[in-house]
Order: sequence, then structure tokens, then C-alpha cells
Amino acid sequence: MKTDYYSLDENHIDPAVIEKAGEVIRRGGLVAFPTETVYGLGGDALNHTASGRIYAAKGRPSDNPLIVHIADTEALNRIAVGISPAALKLAKRFWPGPLTMIFQKADCVPKETTGGLDTVAIRMPANPIALALIRASGGYIAAPSANLSGRPSPTSGRHVMQDMDGRIDMVLDGGEAKIGLESTIVDLTEEVPTILRPGYISLAMIEETIGRTVYDPAILKDTQTGTAPKAPGMKYKHYAPKGELIIVNGEREAVVSYIREQIATAKEGSRIGVIATEETCRLYAADFVENIGSAKDEEEVARNLYRVLRDFDDRQVTLIYSEAFYGGGISVAIMNRLIKAAGHKIIEVS
Ligand code: TXA
Ligand code: MG
Repeated sequence: MKTDYYSLDENHIDPAVIEKAGEVIRRGGLVAFPTETVYGLGGDALNHTASGRIYAAKGRPSDNPLIVHIADTEALNRIAVGISPAALKLAKRFWPGPLTMIFQKADCVPKETTGGLDTVAIRMPANPIALALIRASGGYIAAPSANLSGRPSPTSGRHVMQDMDGRIDMVLDGGEAKIGLESTIVDLTEEVPTILRPGYISLAMIEETIGRTVYDPAILKDTQTGTAPKAPGMKYKHYAPKGELIIVNGEREAVVSYIREQIATAKEGSRIGVIATEETCRLYAADFVENIGSAKDEEEVARNLYRVLRDFDDRQVTLIYSEAFYGGGISVAIMNRLIKAAGHKIIEVS
């Protein structure tokens, strides 16, 4: 299949391209598009054939449900039932934006879209290209992240083309994703609202809006082991870099000296990478040192994480050391993704 590629400026969106893309969705085809979190791989959410195509293009198990993207709050009443006042409060404060909510689904949403579940995940993205595409489609767009299953989520049009060229109808490139990690998922079908996946919208921000909210025990445990997570996508083997990834946690000086020592004593022939910060990147003499951003700016670290992991894969690095990023705000989400990528290998140093 030939994949049509268009680069768009989100401040001056070419209406002819959006019209063409909307037409592709209406006839059951697939369009990858930018969102503020990561790129999505979109198809008509109410068309079970389109959902089937999404799973095939990603090489993803079809019991892993898709997020349905909407462009106005009224759409909620058409695809979900039992919408609580708490959900409306969250929608009012965080939509459009990087928050996904789980509801009981309406009958019109096919089980192919929800991976066989009676619930549906819904999000209104903030990216203007995404919103224009949803409107042009005349409906709702089911979209997982636009990566091949097992690869990091794409944060640029280039990443999407690496994974999807030849597999889907169209790619809309809107530049770099502003957040760079997938949306926060909160389950409102539970008695106590439950965060199934941490993201830019933190537990504290949600609690400020609707009161007591908890993490799915699997997220907390994820920093350890066990307990099946409720978001089916969180249970699959997650992205793991081709090289072995080890996280090193502790005081900065101890971390730097531990990693330096590992580099100095590494086996002949290993290609070593380091995920370092603006503050530390000049202290390492590894083959590949990636400056992921300032340790003082977690949002910058979040934005760069998936690009850095993809770069290491492209360069066939065999062993990667990463500093840890424990702090406030989005660092819960950063560590959630990093720990999965490392297969839980964390070394504490002091
Ligand atoms: O930021 C995002 O959410 C991006 C952009 C494109 O919007 N999308 C995204 O989709 O990350 P995906 O498919 O890569 O991850 C969706 C996650 C999976 O872990 C899936 O299991 C979970 O959401 N999910 C979807 N529907 C669900 C449901 N009804 N109940 C529980 N978990 C659900
Ligand atoms: Mg994904």
C-alpha cells in the first residue's frame, strides 16, 4: 500500500489535506495524526473493519482496546452511558487535553474497538490537527499510538513513517509532540476513580477536581512486580530496547561515578549508551551519550524519552545506562515507562 505523507502547520492547517484525510477515515481507511501526547493511528471508531485494520497495521493483539477520540463533549452522550458529574468536571477542566476516561460503552461502539470489553476509553485531544481530522471524519476516531507493537510510541512524523510507511493510507506530520508520553487514563466505572496509566495529568490534579482517586495497584506494583493491570495494554510485554537497559538511582554524584565505572570496565566490543541530563552528559565517555534534557525540567525529559530510546535502537547499542528521574509532576509517568523498558532493572547506589 502506498502511504500518502503530508506535512501540516498546526497554526495554518491546509483544509484540502484535512478533507482528504477525513474522506479516508469515512471510507474505512487509516490515517496517522499528531496529538499533544504521541501520534495516533486513526480509523472510524464505529466501523469494526477499520478497527481490525488498526490491529493488523500495528501487529497488535486484538483484545487490547483502542481509545476513541472525540472533538466535542456532546459526543460523550452518543458513545458512552452513565456519565457521572465527576466525569463532566474532569472533561470541563482537562479537555481538550491529555486525559482519557473509561466509561460504560453505548451500543453503537463495536466490540472490535473496545477489545471485547463493555467499557470504552474516550479522549478529546488538544492538537488542532487532530481536532480538525475528527471533525472532517464526521464521527469519532479510534486511535492507539501509531507505532508497531513493541516499539516506543512515535513523537514525530519521522517515527511514524519508520513504523507505518506502506502499512496505512496516510500520515499527517504536525511536527514534534508537545508532551511526548501517552495520556493519563482514569477509570470512572470503579467506585473510587482509578488511574490505570500515569501521564501528564497527575493524581493530584485529578484529586483537586473530583476528590479521592487512586492508582491501579498494578502501577504501584509495576515499580515492583505482580498483579494483572486493568488496562489490558499495560499487561503486554512492553517496549524494550534492543540493548539491555539498566536504571541507576541515587545521589547524582554516586550515579555518575557508578556509570563511569561501568563504562570503564565494560566488555570489549560492547556498544554502550547513556541516558544523561544536560547537567551530567559531559561527564561520560560512552560510545553514545544522549542528553535527555535538564534534570530540572521533567517536561523536557518526558518529551525526549521515546526519541532517545528509538535512537539507541537505530545505533544498535548493546548496553544502556539511564539516570533515574524521580521528582514531582510527570516524573511518575516517565519512570513508569522507563522501568517497563528496563524490565524492572534498577540499581540503587549511594
Ligand atoms: O495519549 C494517548 O492516549 C495516545 C494518543 C494517540 O491519544 N493513545 C494511546 O493509545 O496511547 P494506546 O492504544 O497505545 O494505549 C491505550 C491504552 C491501552 O493500555 C489500553 O489497554 C487502554 O488504553 N484501554 C483502552 N480502552 C480501555 C478500556 N475500556 N478499559 C481499560 N483500559 C483501556
Ligand atoms: Mg501504545
